[in-house]
Amino acid sequence: MHDRIAVIDFGGQYAHLIATKIRRLNVLAEILQPEDPAEKFAPFRGIVLSGSPALSAYDEDSAYDKRIYELPIPILGFCFGHQEIAKQYGGEVEHTQREYGPATLQVKGSSPIFRGLAPEELVWMSHGDTVTVLPPGFDEIGVSTAKGGPPHQNAAIASDSLRRYGFQFHPEVDDTAHGEQMLKNFVVEICGCRQDWSMRLFGDEEIERIRSQAGNRSVFLLASGGVDSTVCAVLLGRALGPERVDLLHIDNGLMRKSESAQVIAEFAKRGLDRNLHFVDAGDRFLTALSGVTEPERKRRIIGDTFVQVFEEEASRLNLSDCLLAQGTIYPDTIETGGTKRADVIKTHHNRVPVIEKMIKQGRVLEPLAELYKTEVRELGEALGLPDEMVWRHPFPGPGLGIRLLCSDGTGPVEAPGARVSLDRIAGEAGVLGALLPVRSVGVKADLRSYEQPVLLWGDVPLEQVEPLAARIYQEVAGVNRCVFDLRGAGLENARPLAATVTRERLDLLREADAIVMDGLRRHGLYREVWQCPTVLVPLELDGRGREFVIIRPVLSERAMTARPALLTRELLDELRAAILGLPGISGVALDVTTKPPGTIEWE
Ligand code: XMP
Repeated sequence: MHDRIAVIDFGGQYAHLIATKIRRLNVLAEILQPEDPAEKFAPFRGIVLSGSPALSAYDEDSAYDKRIYELPIPILGFCFGHQEIAKQYGGEVEHTQREYGPATLQVKGSSPIFRGLAPEELVWMSHGDTVTVLPPGFDEIGVSTAKGGPPHQNAAIASDSLRRYGFQFHPEVDDTAHGEQMLKNFVVEICGCRQDWSMRLFGDEEIERIRSQAGNRSVFLLASGGVDSTVCAVLLGRALGPERVDLLHIDNGLMRKSESAQVIAEFAKRGLDRNLHFVDAGDRFLTALSGVTEPERKRRIIGDTFVQVFEEEASRLNLSDCLLAQGTIYPDTIETGGTKRADVIKTHHNRVPVIEKMIKQGRVLEPLAELYKTEVRELGEALGLPDEMVWRHPFPGPGLGIRLLCSDGTGPVEAPGARVSLDRIAGEAGVLGALLPVRSVGVKADLRSYEQPVLLWGDVPLEQVEPLAARIYQEVAGVNRCVFDLRGAGLENARPLAATVTRERLDLLREADAIVMDGLRRHGLYREVWQCPTVLVPLELDGRGREFVIIRPVLSERAMTARPALLTRELLDELRAAILGLPGISGVALDVTTKPPGTIEWE
């Protein structure tokens, strides 16, 4: 039996992130609910109380079993959890100003929870309450200061004798620079957990679980060929034997160049093609999308068509007593994501009504539902899958459908004053800039925005373009993105083209996308880059109806936030030459926008 840490889930995505970070230390973390009785916590070596987006320790009498505080095991709380611990031991919590983002933590004293850390640490805040009165027997072990703000007292508190600790900040987010060390100090030093858990063991346990849930039934899996569904297929194959695993791969006509063929070859290589069903539904998706230009409508049509094809195939194959397996991972199931599209994404894939019904009947297996992408990759490696497969970039369900911008031929109305402030900022930086007469999706202050990109061009190093872009999308009204022209020329006379989803445009985009993917691989950058959408934008520069290509390489860990990957000059030169060599393309630019305000995809 492994040593385990219990994480109480007070809502949002905090608990899962905490569990992930602990598992990364080779210690098993399990998520428990506030309504679980204290007895259930007794076998654990430590308890972590998560933050909460909704609850406030100030005004709520939060419902969880307070008898956990009588257990002789260490407890650590973050944000809401921190305030709960303070309250429990006689401290006070008050509403204060909301604080978001980075802060500097000054470490005080020598508590083991901060062993190995510097006197000042970068931490991430997101809260509106403060522990104003320290509980008796506790010490203030950290004070935080956000940029320009007053010091925040009791940002970290501890009672080493009781083994109770609380942080106002979030050590589980990547932005807390040494959050992992803090978690390690708790889990390993304070709770004494042995670091003997691994993804390989997780895989073995999942295989056992699949066996017992499936009994003697067969399993049917929707296999897109991405990392998640492939890892899932391999687990099912190991658990039940390939003869009891039916795979369905649907080509929606929105896949990358030759992708379906590669996916099928990949399954064949793993011996999983015995019951592989392939449906070429490209024409059907194209017909359903014909004439549609609005991004969310395109998404909905793609999702609905997918479900229809799936249902038809399922009834044709008569799956009435089969289990359905899905490669759902944790971010697919969350209610609210980094963007307001989270529930749209959800309804399109893993939580449509037929599937909901099967979940209720206990007929759905989701062996990866607790994992993030990075963990699925780790599991894929533990299962011995090849790098090429494990490191495959995530690809959205609607595929190239959301990378093929469409338009009725009319451009957006520019925000008043936008052009003047753009000219001023670009001029100061010695570059030129233009508002592109199209729109793309972004997120601003947690809301979906649909605004104009700015194109910049001129003789400046790319490193200087990124901070300039940040200034532009902060200061220029109606702008959520900046792209840098790789031809070094501008397009003052760009005109929007009327364009819809057609096979010709998709084929053109497939070619451009294949050039980019191949370039990333040849230059050894494929793995470092999280995802790299190539986008076809219906903008004409030269009166000949030729379109514009955007390359959007990003660095990210969970796709909730992202930074632009600037690639190398050599690779960019190659990509520019090859893409401009395609008939039908007259321009190419690199997207240099962070998320937020730009999303990873353009639609
Ligand atoms: P954004 O564009 O919101 O994307 O920054 C975040 C991550 O989600 C993927 N994405 C989707 N995945 N259906 C999906 O299955 C969708 O409709 C969809 N939209 C975006 C995107 O590729 C990125 O990994």
